[in-house]
Amino acid sequence: MELYRFLQQQGFGSRKECRQLVEYGLVEIDGHLAQDYRLPVDVAMISALLVDGEPWQPVALPLYLMLNKPAGYETSHKPQHHRSVYSLLPRQFSRLEIAAVGRLDVDTTGLLLLTTDGACVHALSSPRRHVAKRYEVTLKHPADAELIRQLKDGVLLKDEKERVMADEAEILSDERIALTISQGKYHQVKRMVAAAGNRVVGLHRTALGRLELGELEEGCWRLLTADELERLGLRGE
Ligand code: URA
Repeated sequence: MELYRFLQQQGFGSRKECRQLVEYGLVEIDGHLAQDYRLPVDVAMISALLVDGEPWQPVALPLYLMLNKPAGYETSHKPQHHRSVYSLLPRQFSRLEIAAVGRLDVDTTGLLLLTTDGACVHALSSPRRHVAKRYEVTLKHPADAELIRQLKDGVLLKDEKERVMADEAEILSDERIALTISQGKYHQVKRMVAAAGNRVVGLHRTALGRLELGELEEGCWRLLTADELERLGLRGE
C-alpha cells in the first residue's frame, strides 16, 4: 500500500492531507524521513512511525478497542453537556468511524467496546443476540435477599408490558450487588433496581459477553487481543 493511503487509513487525514504530511517532511519511518508519499509500505514491517513529531503504533483495521469509561463522559460523537468518550482516544482515531457497542450513561463507568466494524456494533447490540452485560451496582439502601429475588424473578419497568429479569444477581457487600442482564433497555439497571425498591448510586460495567474489563485503568483504552476477538465471536487466529 502507498504511504499516503496507509496514513489515511490510520486516521491522519484526507488523502491530500496525508500527501502533504509527507511533502512537508513530517513523516519518519524507522528513523528515516519519508521522501515520497507513494512509497510502498508493508505495515507489518514498520516498527517505528513518527508523524508530526508523535510516535504512532500502526493499528490493524477494523479497529476493536475497549475503554474504561470514567464518569462525566457521554457515549456520543455529539455530546450535549459533557465531554465525549471519543475525546479519550488518540486524535488520529477521530478520523475513523468508530462507534460504541451500546451506550453507557454519563455517570456509568467501566467497559465500553468501541469499533470501526459496523456489523459488529449491530450484531453485539442486537436484542436478539442476548449478549450478557455484567455490572457492579452500588445501592442507596442495603442489598437484601428480597431485592435479589425480585431482580431474578423479574420486575415490571415503567412503560413496559413485560417483566424484565436479570440473568444473574448476587450480593457483593452491604450496598453492592453484581447484576447481569442480556437486554439493552434504556437506563435498564437503574430502572430495574428502582422497580425493586432500591436506588442505584454507582454503576460500573465489568463485562460484555465474554469480554472482561480486567485491570484497565479508568480513562484508558487498549486494543482487543486476538483471543478476546475470538471470545466475542468476531474472528479467530
Ligand atoms: N443500565 C443503566 O441504567 N445505565 C447504564 O449506563 C447501563 C445500563
